[in-house]
Amino acid sequence: MKQTTEEHYASQLDNQDPLAKFRDKFIIADPDLIYLDGNSLGRLPKVTVPHLQNLIEEEWGKGLIEGWNKGWFEMPTRLGSRIAQLIGARDDEVVVCDTTSVNLFKLSAAALKYQAGKKVLVSDEFNFPTDLYVFQGVIDILNAGHQLDLIRSEDSISFSEENINKTITGNTALVALTQVAFKSAFMYDIQKVTKLAHQKGALAMWDLSHSVGAVPLKLNDWDVDLAVGCTYKYLNGGPGSPAFLFVRKELQKELFPPIWGWFADQAPFAFNLDFSPADGISRYQISTPHILSMAGIEPALEILLEAGTDQLREKSVKQTDYLIYLAQQLLLPLGFEVGSPLDSSRRGSHVSLRDPEAYRICRALIDPKPEDTTLKVIPDFRAPNNIRLGIAPLYTSFVDIHRALKRLQTIVEDGIYQNYSKKQLKVT
Ligand SMILES: Cc1ncc(COP(=O)(O)O)c(C=O)c1O
Repeated sequence: MKQTTEEHYASQLDNQDPLAKFRDKFIIADPDLIYLDGNSLGRLPKVTVPHLQNLIEEEWGKGLIEGWNKGWFEMPTRLGSRIAQLIGARDDEVVVCDTTSVNLFKLSAAALKYQAGKKVLVSDEFNFPTDLYVFQGVIDILNAGHQLDLIRSEDSISFSEENINKTITGNTALVALTQVAFKSAFMYDIQKVTKLAHQKGALAMWDLSHSVGAVPLKLNDWDVDLAVGCTYKYLNGGPGSPAFLFVRKELQKELFPPIWGWFADQAPFAFNLDFSPADGISRYQISTPHILSMAGIEPALEILLEAGTDQLREKSVKQTDYLIYLAQQLLLPLGFEVGSPLDSSRRGSHVSLRDPEAYRICRALIDPKPEDTTLKVIPDFRAPNNIRLGIAPLYTSFVDIHRALKRLQTIVEDGIYQNYSKKQLKVT
């Protein structure tokens, strides 16, 4: 089948897609809305609606406080053991709790204290701001002479092995990176970098927010020490659903997170006066689980596990390759640049296209004038010039990608973006 820029080629790819049937498991209220933002907030699975309704009306409404002894208390570890299957970890190495930022705080503070004597935390200049801010705050609160060293990029898309190697040294306590960069989608080889960290005596912590659910992960095989990730992107847990954290079994009794809440105690309901940290992964919880916002993760995870991460990755690579092909054919002649790695083995599941007018082009995609078209495309804008197009292989179709890229072409060719304000909204 010869690759072309025609829509029928995209339809053929959809017809051959073994995961196409999963799209029907999600609420797609408007067929004219092309959603390429599942890497920010995943779609709502149909099965989540009755699941949450039952939780509210039956479990809370009728069962009241008895819910805690009927599954709520164990929800963080029960969901953790399902996420463990997605990330290649053991059942008792993952717990769902708090937010990604709070988990980054707990684990990085614990790791720096454990690595007494080593004074450098290594991260990179593409990391998500919350990661870097949390590390700066941890260094400030520990007040023990730590510093943050950032791996630098030479091409604004990726990191060279040379720069990675030279930034991690014998004085590195913790290497704390996000596997897939939120802007460029550059993807680290976790196994390789973790090995390098260990050779230098450092621990390795990975933020999996932009990879979990889209990229196969094998944390045990790769010897990873610590990890965090969010559940509202490719895991489709819902807006603000709690995050997860992973601590390698052998380290669980060695590290001491900085917040000693009662859910981290061996026996929260013994109400003892002195804290006795739990031996296992519960040590890394803090407080009463957020049952309502956590519950949506459960049915959504089952869909991902049924589809399988290897199959999801295979489709995601095909789709990002196809998107880049269309961009090269339709948009590069108009002045766009591809702001993501062309090598799919170093790319996550989104693609950034760069243009000086990226913000206004995004607004034109999201908010079309009714006299122009009913087709609405939702990407997101990442300053200064990135239009970020997220592929969620569970429900993104090849035709979605085709329609979105054709619309981008029209918006630029016809100058439609010029009718939009440069003033940026709060959430972009
Ligand atoms: C890599 C990464 N870490 C963390 C977060 C967000 O953290 P939080 O859930 O604490 O807001 C994001 C959000 O997009 C992210 O991309």
